[in-house]
Amino acid sequence: MTDLPMVCPDTDLAKPVTIYEVGPRDGLQNEPLPVPTEVKAELIQRLLAAGLRIVEATSFVHPTWVPQLADAEDLMRLLGDDGRDLPVLVPNERGLDRALELGCRHVAIFGSATETFAQKNLNRSLDEQFAMFEPVVRRAREAGLDVRAYVSMCFGDPWEGAVPIDQVVAVGRRLLDLGASQLSLGDTIGVGTAGHVTALVDAFRLAGTDVGDLALHFHDTYGQALSNVQAGLRAGVTTYDSSAGGLGGCPYAKSATGNLATEDLVWFLTGLGIEHGVDLTSLVETATWLTGHLGRPSPSAVVRALTP
Ligand code: HMG
Ligand code: MG
Repeated sequence: MTDLPMVCPDTDLAKPVTIYEVGPRDGLQNEPLPVPTEVKAELIQRLLAAGLRIVEATSFVHPTWVPQLADAEDLMRLLGDDGRDLPVLVPNERGLDRALELGCRHVAIFGSATETFAQKNLNRSLDEQFAMFEPVVRRAREAGLDVRAYVSMCFGDPWEGAVPIDQVVAVGRRLLDLGASQLSLGDTIGVGTAGHVTALVDAFRLAGTDVGDLALHFHDTYGQALSNVQAGLRAGVTTYDSSAGGLGGCPYAKSATGNLATEDLVWFLTGLGIEHGVDLTSLVETATWLTGHLGRPSPSAVVRALTP
């Protein structure tokens, strides 16, 4: 049986928490070698069986931009009915068409808080990205789909340095105004610290955003991800993105290391007595199984501690 931390609740923290699992998409989009579609499907099934309710499956992006996810259609067909409720990334109308053809019900657009990353990741300027997203959100909403919006580089950008908080809020508000129902604020290169998280969430609140519409997406580059989650919980945010086994990064941001590991997040929330609905033993078994396919150990501290 997996060890579990002693439970000592902190009543000042928001709960229950929704874990938004991004490993099959954000984790695998950065793998040096292609992962077989069957392995991706099994990973998703295992994560759902472990109790994760939201598992982002893949991206309908240009296959030459992200070759690791070029099998998006094959994967969704393999998943069958189970796949339709899993969110998928769509950058533009072409991506939305591909998702609609397969009956997907949840899509996510992904914007940038900075000019340089918008150019590098989307081949668009900061302003042009909204024109690309507008018809995607409108048509997705008309078709009854739910739309999440990511904002990358919310805490720092490898080319532009510190990113002003009001610039992040302006981009996030524009994405919400297009009709997105949730905004995930990404620390793509993992430079954020706890006070910065508090300041950013407060700035959104002051700008009129319902904190319940925010999610936080941390990368653990400097070991700050869980401290940042704690700051987010204190500020009232209840949705956190994480990646099984701590996989991931962004192919268009070289300094983006692994996402916050789902196992580390589950251990942390369990200790605080915050409900999350996920079975840690199954998660660790899955992360260990996956390392067999990827050929290297998981960066997750919890996976390493609990693997004999
Ligand atoms: P573009 O080259 O400007 O595209 O790329 P375009 O609109 O000029 O079209 C050129 C050709 O591509 C056309 O084909 C289109 O049909 C085709 P042609 O007429 O020449 O034969 N095309 C497509 N084909 C398939 N699927 C599509 C698609 N779109 C166009 N969706 C584009 C613009 C946005 C497509 C490109 O820049 C792209 O795919 N970027 C994706 C980059 C990416 O996926 N990055 C990783 C995800 S973001 C992330 O990881 C961060 C996050 O985790 C949060 C965080 O950590 O911060 C979310
Ligand atoms: Mg990410």
